[in-house]
Amino acid sequence: MSSKPQHKKRILVLNGCNLNLLGAREPEIYGRDTLADIETRLAALAKKAGVELECFQSNHEGALIDRIQQARGKADAILINPGAFTHTSVGIRDAIAGAGVPTIELHLSNIHAREGFRRHSFLAPVCVGQIAGFGAGSYELAFAAALRIIGGRP
Ligand code: DQA
Repeated sequence: MSSKPQHKKRILVLNGCNLNLLGAREPEIYGRDTLADIETRLAALAKKAGVELECFQSNHEGALIDRIQQARGKADAILINPGAFTHTSVGIRDAIAGAGVPTIELHLSNIHAREGFRRHSFLAPVCVGQIAGFGAGSYELAFAAALRIIGGRP
């Protein structure tokens, strides 16, 4: 009996507002790696793990919501650094809650060790978990977490 061929697992990486400026923007907080540097490293990890990777950045809340809606039934996990939308967006939270795709929230900086307004995330309650404070390494840690989820591990 032949078993059905399994589709390659897909991970969607979303970046919100101002993250297109990584490397140049407040490097003492966010580091010197550009978003392209980070995405190149993630692409190499995805290749090694045999998963498909799609990356998308937008400064527009609605564009991110559109991508999350489109991921329903298509992506197996989402990594999201929402930037400042973390602290403001009920719309992105509702999109994640509605998409039914396990989602990991990540931040370069430790948002809990900064200004008070950054401590609250509208997204955290609808995400599997949150990774924050490891600089560009937060993306690689979140990717590792996504692989665990895809592999059926918590
Ligand atoms: C950030 C933290 C947010 O508070 C901030 O608005 C960002 C980046 C981070 O990755 O550390 O734009 O999400």
